[in-house]
Amino acid sequence: MVEQKRPPKSRGFYVKMKLLHKHGRPQQEKICFFRYYKWILWFSLSLYFFTSYLISNNPNGKPTSLHKTRLSNAKSSVVSRALFEPINVTAPEQAIGTPGLLKNLKVFVYDLPPKYNTDWLSNARCSSHLFASEVAIHRALLTSDVRTFDPYEADFFFVPVYVSCNFSTVNGFPAIGHARSLMASAVQLVSSEYPFWNRSRGSDHVFVASHDFGACFHTLEDVAIADGIPEFLKNSIILQTFGVQYKHPCQDAENVVIPPYVWPESIRNTLEKVPATGQRDIWVFFRGKMEVHPKNVSGRFYSKRVRTMIWRKFNGDRRFYVQRHRFAGYQSEIARSVFCLCPLGWAPWSPRLVESVALGCVPVIIADGIRLPFPSAVKWPEISLKVAEKDVGKLAKILEDVAATNLTTIQKNLWDPRNRGALLFNNQVQEGDATWQVLRALSEKLDRSYRSSRVSRELVTDT
Ligand SMILES: *[C@@H]1O[C@H](CO)[C@@H](O)[C@H](O)[C@H]1NC(C)=O
Ligand SMILES: *[C@@H]1O[C@H](CO)[C@@H](O)[C@H](O)[C@H]1NC(C)=O
Ligand SMILES: *[C@@H]1O[C@H](CO)[C@@H](O)[C@H](O)[C@H]1NC(C)=O
Ligand SMILES: *[C@@H]1O[C@H](CO)[C@@H](O)[C@H](O)[C@H]1NC(C)=O
Ligand SMILES: *[C@@H]1O[C@H](CO)[C@@H](O)[C@H](O)[C@H]1NC(C)=O
Repeated sequence: MVEQKRPPKSRGFYVKMKLLHKHGRPQQEKICFFRYYKWILWFSLSLYFFTSYLISNNPNGKPTSLHKTRLSNAKSSVVSRALFEPINVTAPEQAIGTPGLLKNLKVFVYDLPPKYNTDWLSNARCSSHLFASEVAIHRALLTSDVRTFDPYEADFFFVPVYVSCNFSTVNGFPAIGHARSLMASAVQLVSSEYPFWNRSRGSDHVFVASHDFGACFHTLEDVAIADGIPEFLKNSIILQTFGVQYKHPCQDAENVVIPPYVWPESIRNTLEKVPATGQRDIWVFFRGKMEVHPKNVSGRFYSKRVRTMIWRKFNGDRRFYVQRHRFAGYQSEIARSVFCLCPLGWAPWSPRLVESVALGCVPVIIADGIRLPFPSAVKWPEISLKVAEKDVGKLAKILEDVAATNLTTIQKNLWDPRNRGALLFNNQVQEGDATWQVLRALSEKLDRSYRSSRVSRELVTDT
């Protein structure tokens, strides 16, 4: 299935891993020349780019915001070509964008036995439910131009393990009790069969942990905290939906906060039925679990009782459309709403964040201290509202004030396609989309790349 997909072009250095391991590193010398060559090219392009930046800049001082926008648009359009067309290094105009934005990043994707990943796809939900970024990122990387088949030229190593697809036969929720052992087994395999884990102690290896509390692999925060991140993952890079602005054991590893998975096709289908630019006849919308009397689960209450407050206080309010039961067509309701409440559940994040932005409903985030995905690409303060958990009772007043003052501005900002784009994972990487933002974030962590650090060391010793 997914594994059979290969990038459209064949790379010169395709080597089957096992083979490479057995025969040592003869490829190393061969690619040496290319490495220097590329580096010099990269340097001259950077210089070119830097000078053109200076030229296009406002000579009177700070660049105007218009300038900035134009510049980033110009950069972006170049990158999109570089990402999707094979790069001919002798034709500089095709390669400009890649070193600029993704810094010539190279990612090697381990080809693990299917029991770690694709076997789980026999259940169709595995690739579409809210934790499915573990599948989506893997898929997108397989056909991406940053993928390299030569692990010796890779900056990062992606370890594709799907841990969220063991759906409970009782309630249908993903059971993640097996997640630690499945991850441990993958790390064991990778570190014993290939040399790359040991040489960096896993620090250039990348994992997805897309459920409630990331690599702590438990739904309940107190258990998640007590368990912590397994030792064998602590040195690696975790792509996780969980993120808070304060110290937390479940983000105690290098990490990138990623959006929860929402199937892009479902958004397109909804927008065909209910255009997001149409009339919004629901003022405030929330649909989801709201316990009237939340249970005390080992000292914790679901949603810290925030959702209970919403139900009790606003259920009778005509302006609030709050529903406690599942409804398959809920996305159309979001597309018809002005404000969409995104209160915490067990964890601070929820797929509503993505669905609201994608369908043009202003997200009202009620989750103290939440760290939101891709803050450099998605200008969250300009497109959403944050309401403190303690202020949830004052929601109506707060939203009335916004409606009377800056709602139009927020809605206009929200409808910028770049925001929507950055939160959705496509099957193939598209410039600016969620997987692309992950790559961008990784390109900021090249100091962890064994290859990059060694290349710069070699250059230092040579001069
Ligand atoms: C790269 O470009 C040069 C000159 O434009 C051309 O001669 C060469 O065939 C190209 N190589 C590839 C692999 O496309
Ligand atoms: C799936 O989860 C169940 C518990 O819900 C567990 O008994 C089973 O071993 C898990 N399956 C795998 C393959 O890990
Ligand atoms: C990596 O280190 C572990 C533990 O020291 C060892 O068991 C394993 O064989 C090493 N892997 C390789 C490929 O040498
Ligand atoms: C919740 O349960 C814990 C014991 O699990 C108890 O210590 C605590 O007082 C309870 N909290 C409330 C508000 O009932
Ligand atoms: C809109 O107004 C609210 C309440 O005054 C404020 O918190 C928020 O930052 C404003 N947002 C924008 C984008 O101006």
